[in-house]
Parts: sequence; C-alpha cells; structure tokens
Amino acid sequence: MKTTEHKIAVHAQGIVKSFGDGGSRLTVLKNVDFDARDGEIMMLVGPSGCGKTTLLSVLAGTLRSEEGSIEVFGERLDGMRAAKVTKFRALNIGFIFQSFNLIPTLNCAENVSVPLLIQGVKSRVAEDRARELLDRVGLGDRWKNRPTQLSGGQQQRVAIARALVHEPRLVICDEPTASLDAKNGELVMELFDKVARVPGRCVIIVTHDNRIFSFADRIAQMDDGRIVEVHDVENGSAPSFQHH
Ligand SMILES: Nc1ncnc2c1ncn2[C@@H]1O[C@H](COP(=O)(O)OP(=O)(O)OP(=O)(O)O)[C@@H](O)[C@H]1O
Ligand SMILES: [Mg+2]
Repeated sequence: MKTTEHKIAVHAQGIVKSFGDGGSRLTVLKNVDFDARDGEIMMLVGPSGCGKTTLLSVLAGTLRSEEGSIEVFGERLDGMRAAKVTKFRALNIGFIFQSFNLIPTLNCAENVSVPLLIQGVKSRVAEDRARELLDRVGLGDRWKNRPTQLSGGQQQRVAIARALVHEPRLVICDEPTASLDAKNGELVMELFDKVARVPGRCVIIVTHDNRIFSFADRIAQMDDGRIVEVHDVENGSAPSFQHH
C-alpha cells in the first residue's frame, strides 16, 4: 500500500499556556500537540473558551507559551528572540483576528497596505495591490472608506484582504466567516482555498461555521485546552460537531 508523505508546515508539541497567577491562575492550553500540513486548510473547532484563540496566538508567535515547541516552516519560534519573531511574522504570517483590529484612522486601502508597507514596499505600489485585494473580496468600490463606515461583514473582509495582501506562507484566521452571509463566506473560502493550494503554503482556520467545513482537509476538535480528535475530511463530506 502506498503511503502519502505529508510535509509539515506548522508543528507544535506539548504546548502549555496559563494566564494569571496564584489562586486565579488558569491553565488554558494543557499540553497541546497540533500540526498543519503544507498545502492544506486545517480547521480548529471547539466550544467557546476552550483555548482556540490562545492556541492561534501561540502558533503565530504573538503569545509565548510556558512549555512546548513551535516550528513554522522549519523555524523554531519558541526561544526565538522577540524582534526576530516579529520579523518572521511580518514576512510569513497573515493573521485575521476575531475582532478585526483595523486601524480606525486609515481608510480600507491604507489598512490593507500595512503588511506591505512594513516590508518596505512603496506606498503607491502597496495601495494598488491593496485595492486589487479589496476588489477580490467584493469591496473594490469602498477602498476610500474608513472601517467605521462599513458593516461588520465588510470590516471582516477588509481584515481578510489585509492578511493576504503580502502573500504570506501561513494564513491564520480566527472565525473569518462569522460576520459574513453565505455568498461572501463562500467568496472568502474560495480565496483561502487558492492560497492553501499553492505548495509551501498553509491556512489554519478557527470556526463555528459548519457551512465551511467542506473546505477543510482536516478538522481538529479542541475541548478544555486539549486537541481531542483530528478528522480527515474526504471530498466535501464534512463531519458534524456539537458546539456549546
Ligand atoms: N489575556 C488573558 N488573560 C486571562 N485569561 C485569558 C486571556 N486570554 C484568554 N483567557 C482565558 O482563556 C480561556 C480561553 O480563551 P480563548 O480566547 O482562547 O477561547 P476560545 O476557544 O477562542 O473561545 P471563543 O470561541 O469564545 O472565541 C478563556 O477562559 C479566557 O477567559
Ligand atoms: Mg476565540
């Protein structure tokens, strides 16, 4: 029998993360092992408060874990100097936050340009590329608007455009379709699908949205700070999960 070799994009092992200290200390990640493969969409599901956002933040290097190792495209993030992590993230990771984190004083095109500007791309070039991305998420005519002038779903699509504009190898999204209707949800999932299918790339998505499970290659189920099961999704036959 032929076995398929999977290249690993993200490999996390034995992740432990707690918040607070003394009597109020709360261990949120309890020895988590997690991996995501090159060329796949890996989804992460689980009840509210089980640690999904915390795990994403650790994988993206925005939060340090107390224990465990994290490797992203062969680079160890744990133990890496903070400045180096920041640089690695700017070059390689696009993060879509659960709360969109758009900059209120910038218009949409300027918001989407930020990752390119950080990389030193000229602002004219960055803005052209930003407007192209906004067009792809259906907001080509809103590039001049500030985030406060947009609906929740429109802001979410601006955040998605911003996470993709610099073509990061790893895209990490926290509930990317939560504020989107079926049509726009499908539109952004098709975008993620294109991103993930390029060799050397990977998309990790936290979601409660069972409409998008069929886009996953695998779905990891988390409960109370642990990964309890990993499902393979075969040809769009998505499993159903119990939430909350
Ligand atoms: N900075 C923090 N300080 C203290 N506790 C925190 C912090 N961040 C998260 N927590 C706690 O960690 C637990 C897990 O939070 P997390 O945001 O990872 O959950 P989640 O699975 O993403 O939930 P949801 O589906 O509601 O977004 C929660 O009990 C939360 O209160
Ligand atoms: Mg969360």
